[in-house]
Amino acid sequence: MNFQLTEEHLAVQQAARDFAQNELLPGVIERDTEQKFPKDQIKKMGELGFMGMMVDPKYNGGGMDSISYVLAMEEISKIDASVSVCMSVNNSLVCWGLEKYGSEEQKEKYLKRLATGELIGAFCLSEPEAGSDATSQRTTAEDKGDYYLLNGTKNWITNGNSASVYIIIAQTDAAKKHKGINALIVEKGMPGFVVGKKEDKMGIRGSDTHSLMFTDVKVPKANRIGDDGFGFSFAMTTLNGGRIGIASQALGIAAGAYELALKYSKERKAFGKNLSEHQAIQFKLADMATKIDAARLLVHQAAWRKDQKQDFVKAAAMAKLFASQIAQEVTSEAVQIHGGYGYVKEYHVERLMRDAKITQIYEGTTEIQKMVISRELLK
Ligand code: CAA
Repeated sequence: MNFQLTEEHLAVQQAARDFAQNELLPGVIERDTEQKFPKDQIKKMGELGFMGMMVDPKYNGGGMDSISYVLAMEEISKIDASVSVCMSVNNSLVCWGLEKYGSEEQKEKYLKRLATGELIGAFCLSEPEAGSDATSQRTTAEDKGDYYLLNGTKNWITNGNSASVYIIIAQTDAAKKHKGINALIVEKGMPGFVVGKKEDKMGIRGSDTHSLMFTDVKVPKANRIGDDGFGFSFAMTTLNGGRIGIASQALGIAAGAYELALKYSKERKAFGKNLSEHQAIQFKLADMATKIDAARLLVHQAAWRKDQKQDFVKAAAMAKLFASQIAQEVTSEAVQIHGGYGYVKEYHVERLMRDAKITQIYEGTTEIQKMVISRELLK
């Protein structure tokens, strides 16, 4: 068993850390307050290869492994989870899904530009009445011969307005239930496709989350991913990998809050000595660091299994379940250690605490992860 990161992994980690410190930290509070999408930052991340990290270089990707990806996700998430959710959806859900299951034509047309960050992608499964219960899709993709007629609404879509390429999961044949669902590539600007209202969120406020409306949108058959009826399987398989991304995001949020709390505890004095000299604070730091290390081991294990082409469904769900749980606990403790300062924006930890909550909700709630894990245990 080797816990040592390679030279390449360390270089990716350092590059992401430097980028986060130099390019994301300035302005992160303002972007959160003003709900401002990090457009320039994402563009730069594309140029540095962070938007298509695992994509084959022949499609303009970085050709890196999943360990490199989670290392970068952790560093970016320590500073700005609004940026890392955009990065995660583009890498894990859109680029990965297209590379694994898309046609050569789709890869040429879309993947090559998504992998460089020139285009941003969105993954659209959730609906007003189908969040966790993903088989109950109401959006319809009626088969009209050489195209599908798309009608319906998608909700809570990450990169909802900033994206140009959307993967839409829709029901073609309701009688076939989940085997009648398709995954279609929809471009912004297709007639009948409207980006709806922007959500005013508790956390990850820099990311743009929108509803999407489709009215008689004609989607060419060439834009279907995989065979007819493959859409649900596509969504589930893609989300398995996506959960590793969100687990590393949760880990990064926790680690970012911990690092701030550790630093603060060495600087702030109370009752004549540094906070860090009080056992009450030391015990908090010990608990926080232990939880973060345990989450990191789960995240790296899931990424490693994926890289080794081993079954990683349970490992990914466990990593997401645990990392999102400890992100709640650690960020809350980081606020506590900061006292009154922790409750105001300037010290960053209140934002990290707000951002942490979403990791228990998107790409499968805590309860969904437990379903996935227990089904794997019992099968
Ligand atoms: N991996 C691969 N296939 C899976 C799977 C998995 N984890 N889970 C289910 N499937 C397959 C099953 O094998 C089955 O296929 P077959 O019939 O061919 O065998 C099919 O899917 C249906 O499975 P179930 O009967 O188990 O379906 P279910 O309705 O009982 O529950 C579920 C499935 C696991 C609960 C699923 O609905 C689920 O994962 N829901 C959560 C959806 C989710 O994560 N939404 C997040 C939205 S995306 C997002 O958040 C992105 C963003 O913007 C950040």
